[in-house]
Amino acid sequence: MDGIDQKLFEAAERVRENAHAPYSGFFVGAAILADDGKIYAGCNVENAAYPQGNCAEASAISAMLAGGGRRIKHILTTGPGTEPVTPCGGCRQRIREFADLDVNITCLGADGGEPLFTSLEQLLPHSFGPEFLGK
Ligand code: THU
Repeated sequence: MDGIDQKLFEAAERVRENAHAPYSGFFVGAAILADDGKIYAGCNVENAAYPQGNCAEASAISAMLAGGGRRIKHILTTGPGTEPVTPCGGCRQRIREFADLDVNITCLGADGGEPLFTSLEQLLPHSFGPEFLGK
């Protein structure tokens, strides 16, 4: 696909197959290029107690931190359908914790259609972040 980072795309698609999404049937994968040059991936993990589920982005951020990465340089999300799967509101805030406002965010629908190339600045305008707390 044109303009898509192939390594991130393949990592996100690979991990998407491992998603635990028996309730929604909506399998999502996310892959991060981190400041250490490595790629970290995660999938959504649902739970019979619905609110306890994790989004793919949250899983990928956990993998990044556990693996030694600290900052998100690029994050790609992919899921079913032809509409780009964009991070939910909560995940936009999670990304905010570990990325600059101009971070590359690529959102895909795995079944084709136009990708969305965006940034945190666009997805989460006027946002609250660590610097408000002096961090
Ligand atoms: N989901 C994600 O993992 N990431 C997104 O960007 C959107 C939604 C998951 C949460 C839930 O497991 C399923 O997709 C349906 O909302």
